[in-house]
Amino acid sequence: MNVTVVGAGYVGLVTAACLAELGHRVVGVDHDQARVVLLQAGGVPIYEPGLDELVQRNQAAGRLRFTTSMAQGVDHAEVLFIAVGTPPQEDGSADLQHVLAVARQIGQHLQRPLVVVNKSTVPVGTGAAVADTIRQGLVARGHEALDFTVVSNPEFLKEGAAIEDFMRPDRIVIGVPPGAAGARARECMSQLYAPFNRHHERTVWMDVPSAELTKYAANAMLATRISFMNEMALLADQVGADIDAVRRGIGSDRRIGHSFLYAGTGYGGSCFPKDTRALMHTAMEQGTPMRVVSAVEAVNRAQKRQLVKRVVQLMGEDLSGRRFAVWGLSFKPNTNDMREAPSRVVIRELLERGADVAAFDPVATTEARRVLAEDLASTPALLQRLHVGDAAEGVLQGADALLILTEWKCFHSPDFARMRALMRDPLILDGRNLYDPQVLQSLGVTYLGIGRRNALGVARLGLTAPMPVAASELRAA
Ligand SMILES: NC(=O)c1ccc[n+]([C@@H]2O[C@H](COP(=O)([O-])OP(=O)(O)OC[C@H]3O[C@@H](n4cnc5c(N)ncnc54)[C@H](O)[C@@H]3O)[C@@H](O)[C@H]2O)c1
Repeated sequence: MNVTVVGAGYVGLVTAACLAELGHRVVGVDHDQARVVLLQAGGVPIYEPGLDELVQRNQAAGRLRFTTSMAQGVDHAEVLFIAVGTPPQEDGSADLQHVLAVARQIGQHLQRPLVVVNKSTVPVGTGAAVADTIRQGLVARGHEALDFTVVSNPEFLKEGAAIEDFMRPDRIVIGVPPGAAGARARECMSQLYAPFNRHHERTVWMDVPSAELTKYAANAMLATRISFMNEMALLADQVGADIDAVRRGIGSDRRIGHSFLYAGTGYGGSCFPKDTRALMHTAMEQGTPMRVVSAVEAVNRAQKRQLVKRVVQLMGEDLSGRRFAVWGLSFKPNTNDMREAPSRVVIRELLERGADVAAFDPVATTEARRVLAEDLASTPALLQRLHVGDAAEGVLQGADALLILTEWKCFHSPDFARMRALMRDPLILDGRNLYDPQVLQSLGVTYLGIGRRNALGVARLGLTAPMPVAASELRAA
């Protein structure tokens, strides 16, 4: 099939490369010229495991090419995917300008029947708005009889495992409009996704508004699990329980399951924060406020500050002269995506309190340097006290504490003896609960996780009370 994918970002590029791998002839369109030039030269603008190989293989086979020209993209397509960004606006609503810009261009260039597939995450009603926009373009050109259908096919891939998720989806949600045009679009989508349904039917068919809402409901549910566990972890700290034991205890209940039950420094990324806010905005507009989702969002905002709160409890409000090492900058492992990453909140607050910060990430270094420089552009004095290093051990030198913010594999089994030798004080505040508190205690490392019987770490600091601990107590110790 001739497929065009508009938007060559995390979702669009993966969609284009995977559909090409299945044998379709795919054109990827992006309005970012530098991005397209890089792709045409065989480069890949994002870090996603296995993606560069997949892109290069399909380019070499002649099944995948890239252009900035929407005219070429529309001309090529039997099926056209919209996979452009829908960033949050000030009021939390999804900014649809990119989606509607693509719709306008389809209206300007369409010459023959087309199925338009909206893969961007968009509020209910966007499918209809896209159809209206295309229709207006056709009317303006006197082509109103041209047949096109807009379907909704939200994407559920996870950055870091995007290819696997796309190629072996749990389910494919497709919303089609009613009537004959919807039936034809359904036939077309069935054909396109047939390889995924060979073993068993994975497609969940529905109407367009339900498909649009399904995406928000899925992300809100996953975010809810995370915030729920983060709140439970705070309580575990206070009562001397281990949240990891609790996680295993409840995850083994089949009604609950193991996924998305990890307490940590809060969720980030390009999806959960913006999608929960957009959902709340839609709900407010409809007069049905989402109280659960509001609480989930508020808990997450507070959770991103939790580690620094602990640092302050231990060392006082003023961190001048203190030096902190940070491991992990991307919002999760196996991606260089820094959007809404907890590291941005943590690093800014440490710097604002006067500390020096030396940070390391195995993949996101370049992106982190760019994003953090942007975050701190209006406060150059803070930026001067930040160093993004190229080696995990390098940033530990002379540190008063190490904060772990992303659970990269390379952080799972470090040389603790060497860490102790490098750091001024062997104190680890682990925002991802990578280590066993008892083991670290036996190695002479003071360890505070999230809901991990922090009484153990506190005891090593010579204190008796569980967290929270007053800074004065630490100094006394
Ligand atoms: N990133 C994820 O993990 C993920 C997962 C599921 C769904 N989504 C959703 O998919 C959509 C895309 O997300 P993303 O992370 O891939 O975004 P992204 O920012 O990585 O990529 C978007 C791309 O679209 C291009 N673009 C924007 N307007 C354009 C236009 N008018 N014409 C051509 N190109 C244009 C941009 O240059 C950019 O390369 C969003 O709605 C997002 O919420 C993202």
